[in-house]
Amino acid sequence: MGEPVQIPPEKMPQHVAMIMDGNGRWALSRGKPRLAGHRAGTENLRRVIRASVEFGVKYLTIYAFSTENWGRPPAEVKGLMHIFENVIDKELDELHEEGVQLRHIGRLEKLTKKLRKKVLDAVELTKDNNRLILNIAFNYGGRDEIVYAIQKMLKDGISTEEVNIELISQYLFTAGTPDPDLVIRTSGELRTSNFLIWQSAYSEWYVTPTFWPDFDREEYAKALAIYAQRDRRFGGVSEEYYE
Ligand code: IPE
Ligand code: IPE
Ligand code: MG
Repeated sequence: MGEPVQIPPEKMPQHVAMIMDGNGRWALSRGKPRLAGHRAGTENLRRVIRASVEFGVKYLTIYAFSTENWGRPPAEVKGLMHIFENVIDKELDELHEEGVQLRHIGRLEKLTKKLRKKVLDAVELTKDNNRLILNIAFNYGGRDEIVYAIQKMLKDGISTEEVNIELISQYLFTAGTPDPDLVIRTSGELRTSNFLIWQSAYSEWYVTPTFWPDFDREEYAKALAIYAQRDRRFGGVSEEYYE
């Protein structure tokens, strides 16, 4: 553990969402195969989860596999599925002991039966934990999520008048989770890549050039410190203007 973070509790984000990007470039810069980068990325995820618990972040959402990532070469897709399975096998007990509640956002249908079962079992095992809620976005896409929500609303016979912002939020995979306060993207790209496009309407963004496997506790603490200095106006006017 490093220096304690000195952020007043009211300036701490309750929900941090992370686009864990740059595993491939991390590997390339070391002359290693891309999958080695993904493995290093999952090692780093352990550290980031533990730092989140330490910092007192209540909700952590991580983007692990997008609906568009199926378009990668089959060997990489297969490798990513294996890594996800291994992570559940290796980490679940410890995460459970630490009071982490696992949730999945996205679609499970396209995953293998074995992986689907592992995910559902992990969610079931940890459902009463509340130290940290960890949403894993795996086969997740923001547009797909909205399509799925509309389909469900229609099936439920929701009338035109009933549709509003709150109702739509309740039909998303993230129902019941507060919107992310802070979205962190590693490795420099300035785009959402279809991550939480509805929920992040008023999130603060933090982008670092650091590749995901190198995004350590200190970098995380720095992102939180920068977030704490932001003036979130939500379309209004800063308090200092009110006399
Ligand atoms: C992020 O790293 C992990 C996944 C998308 C699964 P990338 O694999 O996108 O790494 P880069 O962007 O190619 O460096
Ligand atoms: C976003 O990264 C998806 C994940 C981190 C899981 P990508 O690497 O897929 O995004 P693009 O292709 O650079 O937009
Ligand atoms: Mg990428």
